[in-house]
Amino acid sequence: MIVLSIETSCDETAAAILDEGAVLSSVVATHWMHARFGGVVPELASRAHLNLLLPILDQVMADSAVALENVEAVAVTRGPGLIGSLLVGISLAKSVAFARNIPLIGVNHLEGHMWSAGFDNPDLEPPFLALLVSGGHTLLVGVEGFGDYRLIGQTRDDAAGEAFDKVAVLCGLGYPGGAAVEKLSAEGNREFHSFPVGMSGQQGYDFSFSGLKTAVANFMRRNPTVVSDHLSDILAGFQEAAVNSLLEPTLRAFDAFGYRTLTLSGGVAANGRLRQQLTQAVEARGGKFLFPGFALCTDNAAMTGWVGWRRLALGQRDDFDLSGEANLPLPGLRHV
Ligand SMILES: Nc1ncnc2c1ncn2[C@@H]1O[C@H](COP(=O)(O)OP(=O)(O)OP(=O)(O)O)[C@@H](O)[C@H]1O
Ligand SMILES: [Mg+2]
Repeated sequence: MIVLSIETSCDETAAAILDEGAVLSSVVATHWMHARFGGVVPELASRAHLNLLLPILDQVMADSAVALENVEAVAVTRGPGLIGSLLVGISLAKSVAFARNIPLIGVNHLEGHMWSAGFDNPDLEPPFLALLVSGGHTLLVGVEGFGDYRLIGQTRDDAAGEAFDKVAVLCGLGYPGGAAVEKLSAEGNREFHSFPVGMSGQQGYDFSFSGLKTAVANFMRRNPTVVSDHLSDILAGFQEAAVNSLLEPTLRAFDAFGYRTLTLSGGVAANGRLRQQLTQAVEARGGKFLFPGFALCTDNAAMTGWVGWRRLALGQRDDFDLSGEANLPLPGLRHV
């Protein structure tokens, strides 16, 4: 089945074409105009989606060499995300599905991120433990099957990506700043200053990043000259604490629930230090660790298309009353 997928949940406008779950083409345009505001401006994002979506649709069709007449279904992100942004993608998806009289399916953005760790990897079979670390979410999910998810842990305050972005803004590195923090950290000494690891020494599987972010802000205020002379050292210390804040609850859950496979996904999954530390820890336990290529870490429509294709294969469809949901939870999520 040839699926056209559309993703407009935040500040990336994206479309993809998949054939039986294999990606034929995928185009992502990241909005540049939010950087100077230090975060995404919802109204600007909606307008950018309006301007970008049709040219991107043309591009993804041209790249795949598939004609619109041959598209057999449309998948679209329906939440969570910015409501105005979601509605732009959903409106186009409905128009194509209606005009062509083909099935329409709404997809959960987080379910897309979660499966992006392995949808081009036939080795990925449930059960597995999924660590999803993005700009707005930090979730630890036990995946028992497609659509059968157990919430094992989540952040109690900021998301992991949000912590990277806030520290980047404090250091004048712009928004979003996770990649810039990683780049500068590579030149720094992570032992120069130790920052607090969220939830360290606690039981359970939740995460916390707000104490770490405040500790960095306080350190910078109290030691302005140290910061200007040692920015890469400070960032390396922050990155180490952020990575350890993810590592400890994740590995505790991996051991406690007896999983053999861990996946990592979402924008923060692009972080090399996080990948390296998790690779070592999972290998030491004789387990398997899977993560997506860089292009699939941040928002894209290939992941939306893959989840949509799986749901369509199960006979699921949406009606034309499909709408966006800003706080849509993962489907089939059980709390343990
Ligand atoms: N190399 C990196 N190291 C750390 N963080 C990174 C890196 N690259 C990207 N990020 C972070 O990833 C986040 C963006 O990820 P993503 O696009 O998955 O999030 P989102 O779509 O905004 O949020 P959500 O998926 O929760 O709605 C940003 O916070 C960004 O700083
Ligand atoms: Mg995302």
